[in-house]
Amino acid sequence: MAQLWGGRFTKATDDLVYHFNASISFDKRFLDQDIEGSIAHVVMLEKQQILTEEEKDAIVKGLTGIREDVHAGKLTITDEYEDVHSFVEANLIDRIGDAGKKLHTGRSRNDQVALDMKLYTREQVEATEEKLKDLLKTLLSMMEEHTETYMPGFTHLQKAQPITLAHHLGAYFEMFKRDLLRMRDIYKRMNYCPLGAGALAGTTYPLDRVYTASLLGFEGPTLNSMDSVSDRDYLIEFLNALSLIMMHLSRFSEEIIIWNSNEYRFVEIDDAFSTGSSIMPQKKNPDIAELVRGKTGRVYGALMALLTTMKGIPLAYNKDMQEDKEMAFDAMDTVSDCLTLFDGMLRTMSFRKDVMEKSAMNGFTNATDAADYLVKKGVPFRDAHSIIGRLVLSCIEKNKAIDEMDISELKAISDVFDEDVYEAISLKTCVEKRLTIGAPGKSAMLHAIEENRKFLEA
Ligand code: ARG
Repeated sequence: MAQLWGGRFTKATDDLVYHFNASISFDKRFLDQDIEGSIAHVVMLEKQQILTEEEKDAIVKGLTGIREDVHAGKLTITDEYEDVHSFVEANLIDRIGDAGKKLHTGRSRNDQVALDMKLYTREQVEATEEKLKDLLKTLLSMMEEHTETYMPGFTHLQKAQPITLAHHLGAYFEMFKRDLLRMRDIYKRMNYCPLGAGALAGTTYPLDRVYTASLLGFEGPTLNSMDSVSDRDYLIEFLNALSLIMMHLSRFSEEIIIWNSNEYRFVEIDDAFSTGSSIMPQKKNPDIAELVRGKTGRVYGALMALLTTMKGIPLAYNKDMQEDKEMAFDAMDTVSDCLTLFDGMLRTMSFRKDVMEKSAMNGFTNATDAADYLVKKGVPFRDAHSIIGRLVLSCIEKNKAIDEMDISELKAISDVFDEDVYEAISLKTCVEKRLTIGAPGKSAMLHAIEENRKFLEA
């Protein structure tokens, strides 16, 4: 047991207590952030003449050596240390002697861990933005390819009106675009440095917090030392944004699972992204989509856990806050894997255009357009709605689509129908005449694609 705080104790810590209290098993992933923060801290201490240049140089060299040795596998982070901060400090003192004991001057583990978590989360926010960008690029190129791939659009999972695959994918593009913008918002709001807040009330050393903040790439220092050590809002915002990403991936997964079913057969998931059954030889299952859908729960869980942990904590630091790490790390790892796998699955998936188009042709997806046809001939919309309703009933009886009815059958329902109805309610017309901004018609779709291309290039 290597602890930083034995002085006022007369007894050793109970073994169970030691392990219950320790965080090394999970905060060892902060090694790089911890060392980066410590280097900035001592560089500032020297500038402020709190440390000599020799002391600063020795500490920086020692810290860099520790980092290199851990990465090279020459030094192992073991659970004989309470946390990563103790590990680094103890190893520094072993290496460079007395100068190492000055590292923690004007600092507490409270502002130190607040900094480490922030640096780590900031990197994760950036990495998530990059992954979202990759996914958006995949979606955009699929959209470009499928502006004329017709398919049914659904409401209530019932065929509603015909759309294109580009249009359907475009809906997800908008969702992931908002997810990406959320990363930028979070980054901007969180980018203030807590180091120098001390345990809770700052310090009497003349620290230059503006300088430390700039060394670490922050916009500036945080403005209240109590808030600095006990703020995890940015992490909650990030977990919230990760939950939204998972919600979007999960909805998309659900659709892919449906489209991949024997009943739909809209898509073929690549063999590399499917799995088989141990008993049923014919099976090819969409496990990746199912797992992405399933893993959504644990990411929501991390968000709920941290919100709940934080809700009763009085100012300032309390040990409860050590619980911010494990589930948050799990959520970050999960979303990162899900984004990568989902992108891969999409890029290798093929679409059965013929099946999709055929599906759009039946199910009366052109019923709205048939009503609009009558409206254009002067029938009030509510009457047209009712006429087409009766027509659909008659079609169901005859097991025909609206455009398979011959003109006499149509006229029997309403004499407003004419030969030009077939053109007006063809699949192509139904889609291509929908040209309002955001609609599936080709020129409207190309406009959206162009806007989104500019967004990705900016
Ligand atoms: N492992 C602790 C955490 O994650 C580090 C801060 C410890 N501070 C303290 N006052 N015990 O929160």
